[in-house]
Amino acid sequence: MRNLISQRVNAIPPSGIRKFFDIAAANPKVISLAIGEPDFVTPRPILQAGVDSLLRGETAYTSNAGTIQLRRAISAHLSKRYGVSYDPETEIFVTVGVSEAFADLFIAICDPGDEVVIPAPCFVAYSASVALSGGTPVTVDLTAATGFQASGDVIAPYITPKTKAILIGSPSNPTGAVYTRDNLISIGEVAKKHDLIVVSDEVYDRLVYGVPHVCVPSLPSMRERTVLLGGFSKDYAMTGWRIGYMCGPEALVAAAKKVHQYIIMSAPTMSQAAAVAALEQGEAHVQHMVGEYDRRRKLLVRELNTMGLTCFEPRGAFYCFPDVSASGMNGDVFANTLLAEEEVALVPGSAFGFSGANHVRIAYAQSYEKIETAIERMYRFMKKHG
Ligand SMILES: Cc1ncc(COP(=O)(O)O)c(C=O)c1O
Repeated sequence: MRNLISQRVNAIPPSGIRKFFDIAAANPKVISLAIGEPDFVTPRPILQAGVDSLLRGETAYTSNAGTIQLRRAISAHLSKRYGVSYDPETEIFVTVGVSEAFADLFIAICDPGDEVVIPAPCFVAYSASVALSGGTPVTVDLTAATGFQASGDVIAPYITPKTKAILIGSPSNPTGAVYTRDNLISIGEVAKKHDLIVVSDEVYDRLVYGVPHVCVPSLPSMRERTVLLGGFSKDYAMTGWRIGYMCGPEALVAAAKKVHQYIIMSAPTMSQAAAVAALEQGEAHVQHMVGEYDRRRKLLVRELNTMGLTCFEPRGAFYCFPDVSASGMNGDVFANTLLAEEEVALVPGSAFGFSGANHVRIAYAQSYEKIETAIERMYRFMKKHG
């Protein structure tokens, strides 16, 4: 049979994360710090709200935009936390995770060849979702020397007449960097100068350690040129419920919602009920999980630096991104050899962009005890190879 697969899909590499995840899942002796997913079960009141919704028989579609209860709860939450207000009727819609929101938005704004500027290392779906929509991802390679943060000056040279958007993820997967207010303001200035939008992925907004999260649309005159993507997967340990949202200026939200209507219809109904409970009753649980992640973060950063794997201090999300050059290996060889010799799974930094090649991503969304055991194994590994 002739090859039916489109060039667009053929050109996209498979996710570099899944490979390590699959190997780890097949061997129970492997400690996997490869996957960016909370080890917590969804907190009880949130679970219960989802179950109650099902038992009430709420098994039909909701409005395309999501239930008005959830949109109102999102609006109230953003207004209270960040002082930014969105009309629940026209400026918010509920998606199947932030993952769906990327697809909706880039299909809505990209004509073939339109460019989206993306600082990297970054989440694997950023470039892929732009490319799948027919746009062209333009990568800006960052290093640990700048704390893995872009600024307006760093981004400006990459803007062309074809640029439509700048995509920022803060707190960052994979580096754990949390953008400073000044850097975000300077990126906003570039967006204003060239009449671009900023797409701000804030899915880890609550997972910050000792630094504030800056919500991009809350910055002066940024609300009108920002599309804010938020979600429940990470902050509330709800990855499997598949709920996210998009907020922004009405015209952009309406265009993305049109895509959502045709490819999704509506996000899962019971999950929307659970998400309302997350916003209304989840705060103490978020605080608890943040405290636990912080304990693990401190342990990992200290031990990695002691064993010679230089680690920039991550201030958000649940990832460390050490430089593994002291082992004499690049990130790919390091991750493969560590998995083979010590049964610890990490992800090579190259999965997130060219400038991650000498790094690995370590997710600390696993129990403290498992992380301790992984550290022991890594010490042994570094004694042999370092
Ligand atoms: C930076 C970032 N954005 C978005 C997502 C997707 O999240 P969701 O579960 O809401 O689709 C992830 C998941 O790993 C992520 O790391």
